[in-house]
Amino acid sequence: MRLLITGGAGFIGSNFIFHLRAVRPDWTLLCVDKLTYAGNLATLDSVRDDPHFRFFRADITDETAMRGIFETERPDAVVNFAAESHVDRSIEDPGIFLRTNVLGVQTLLDVCRSCGVSRFHQVSTDEVYGDLPLDRPDLRFTEESPLRPSSPYAASKAAADLLCGAYRRTYGLHVTLSRCSNNYGPFQFPEKLIPLMLANALADQPLPVYGTGENVRDWLYVDDHCAAIRLILEKGEAGAVYNIGGHGELSNLALVRRLLALVGKSESLITHVGDRKGHDLRYAIDPVLLEKTLGWRPAVSLDEGLAKTVAWYLEHRLWWETIRSGAYLSYYERMYGNRPAPDRHFDGGL
Ligand code: NAD
Ligand code: DAU
Repeated sequence: MRLLITGGAGFIGSNFIFHLRAVRPDWTLLCVDKLTYAGNLATLDSVRDDPHFRFFRADITDETAMRGIFETERPDAVVNFAAESHVDRSIEDPGIFLRTNVLGVQTLLDVCRSCGVSRFHQVSTDEVYGDLPLDRPDLRFTEESPLRPSSPYAASKAAADLLCGAYRRTYGLHVTLSRCSNNYGPFQFPEKLIPLMLANALADQPLPVYGTGENVRDWLYVDDHCAAIRLILEKGEAGAVYNIGGHGELSNLALVRRLLALVGKSESLITHVGDRKGHDLRYAIDPVLLEKTLGWRPAVSLDEGLAKTVAWYLEHRLWWETIRSGAYLSYYERMYGNRPAPDRHFDGGL
């Protein structure tokens, strides 16, 4: 298998690469990433010298670059993680979300078609379903729930989902989609709730909880998400949508309190700040289709996953402190700026 993975220098994409290295060591992994502020090449240090791994710095909206990589590398399948992924940023500046998350997917689908790559998996999100009320714990999102995105980020992901369905029906591509709940674990960028709160707590800085903090998210350890995507890639039905979630519902306030307890810091650090615009109240995933048809089960409980995550952030302070200081942005130039041009006919290959 020659698998092209986009967004592999980000949080989930990099964990997916590590997951595959462990369980499918014979697969060749071709990582394409633009290295936006959220992509960090240092994250991939452990695989960079692996002969079955290649990294290409490129933008998924750049059709010429994508075509060059596809024609040279001839992937059998594509898993698309590349996206602008932070809701707060989409509220500030929706444009880049539409370019990458919608037009980028269209570009990848078109290049798949013209280069004869029939297998495409789109990594989507539970946010496409909008939110659920706090007072109806019996309700969960199923694959049939209507798409009611609240934020520009969620709307861009929903648009990409619809595009994938249309390419399946119109051109017969073997497309699958997965919609996962909130991930946590190693290498998550410290603008997202868990790493941000951990970093602030360790620095004795205030922990900014939006609004009342009653909003509920359904947390899944990232390696369980990666295992689910691999199963879908290997055994998923063409055109199918799979919800992924681990029954890990928790309010933001309860989660922040658990994090503070795990790092031995006082709850007095919690500071309520103004709410996020259009803030979704509750996400909850019903993953029964994935469980019944592909036999997936999350392996890591919330207690275990949070403990592992806190331990990882304590042991890898340099990784997130370098990001918080902004120094990681010059890493690519330091590592690769003076290297000879690659022997490939597209820009940015290593
Ligand atoms: P992330 O922001 O950590 O990483 C995104 C990666 O994509 C970065 O490495 C970035 O450099 C790269 N990228 C961005 N624009 C690009 C472009 N135009 N061309 C090439 N590369 C580009 O995101 P994440 O949290 O790892 O999320 C990965 C995917 O999973 C996204 O599609 C997201 O919508 C989805 N998702 C995330 C979660 C979650 O909880 N984080 C849950 C469900 C689904
Ligand atoms: O549900 C899947 C989605 O989960 C993914 O599609 C997104 O890419 C991912 O970013 C995540 O979106 P959220 O908006 O749920 O994640 P975030 O970490 O930004 O926020 C989680 C909750 O915590 C949310 O209710 C907002 C709140 N929050 C967040 C931050 C950053 C705070 O209260 N304070 C904060 O400082």
